[in-house]
Amino acid sequence: MKVSEALKSRITCRAFLDKPVPEETVRQILDEAKYAPSGGNLQPWHVYVLTGARLNAFLGIVAEKQKDAPFGEGTEYDIYPKGLTDPYKARRFKCGEDMYATIGVTREDKAGRLQQFARNFRFFDAPVAMFFAIDRQMGLGQWSDLGMFIQSAMLAAREHGLHTAPQEAWAIWHKTVSEFLAMPEELMLFCGMGLGYMDERAPINNLRTDRAHSEWRFLKDACKFRSSRVQRRGLRYGGMTQTSTWIALTIAAAAFLFGGLAPARADGIVPDPGAAAAPALLQEAQWGYHSEQDDARDAVRSGRVISPGQAKQAALSRFPGKFLDMSFGGQTYHVKIRTPDNRVVVVAVDAVSGRVVGAR
Ligand SMILES: Cc1cc2nc3c(=O)[nH]c(=O)nc-3n(C[C@H](O)[C@H](O)[C@H](O)COP(=O)(O)O)c2cc1C
Repeated sequence: MKVSEALKSRITCRAFLDKPVPEETVRQILDEAKYAPSGGNLQPWHVYVLTGARLNAFLGIVAEKQKDAPFGEGTEYDIYPKGLTDPYKARRFKCGEDMYATIGVTREDKAGRLQQFARNFRFFDAPVAMFFAIDRQMGLGQWSDLGMFIQSAMLAAREHGLHTAPQEAWAIWHKTVSEFLAMPEELMLFCGMGLGYMDERAPINNLRTDRAHSEWRFLKDACKFRSSRVQRRGLRYGGMTQTSTWIALTIAAAAFLFGGLAPARADGIVPDPGAAAAPALLQEAQWGYHSEQDDARDAVRSGRVISPGQAKQAALSRFPGKFLDMSFGGQTYHVKIRTPDNRVVVVAVDAVSGRVVGAR
């Protein structure tokens, strides 16, 4: 199955067939999902899997508790932000309405709604139940990593012909879940997930939720980045007084040595790969990821790439005059100089050889 097919065919399955999933397949899915990325490779996910008799025993406990407390025991985190505003509020509302419409449950039918809500706590009859937890010391970034792991598991499931139902609803039974699973104190439950074969005939599985299509913000021709300016042709730099810009130019010059890095980091937002690399790498340096900045410096120190200062000197030695500004694009520095006879020349200096390769 192609990734695009897995992405498009994954839906939240709210009715599963009574058909077991081999344990080996479950293990394979989790083993595949573990290749999900995580900041600093923290891999902050913790996964518990329940099947068979253990799952039934657990569901029995929850069903018993539900009789007295249909809305559970409170959550440890807000499933949705308080005071959620549009467009998010409207999307949430529509998703709920569309879901109930598939099973003919009206807004007024409170009992019908509660019944459907309660099906969450049977994992919609999935034969495999998972719980995802995270260490309490983790912050927003790591919660996002956990989300990537979960989505990876959901996509891997598709390749195995399986469907999934991620369920934050389980957060309302966090104490019961933690207790049953004997989760260590430091772990906090994020959500549950049902896994199994979809019941294609169940009307609720006909739900296809909307997607907003127009929210991408492509910054195509110019991208402001702190003191530096990224333009179509490369990274321009005027004053030579600001350290961050200096580092950006150096890193831009070094970036093309690390094949594929620039386009991968640019995510297609800025069209010129050489130009895109510098801000991406500079941002990493500012966020505390020093390795690529160090790599760039090493590349300059070891002579694999010349520094902006060396490029400036090389240009000025061939075209004496007043240095105006410089930019980097492709693998070439472009140094702008005003000559004594008041001409402006742009001198091209190869970043690897350090040689002047042209002027206009
Ligand atoms: C982290 C997470 C938690 C969710 N929790 C629930 C849940 O408790 N119950 C439920 O019916 N759907 C739940 N959903 C499913 C969403 O409603 C669903 O993903 C969304 O409406 C988009 O529809 P789709 O998954 O079919 O594409 C959850 C989804 C995610 C990603």
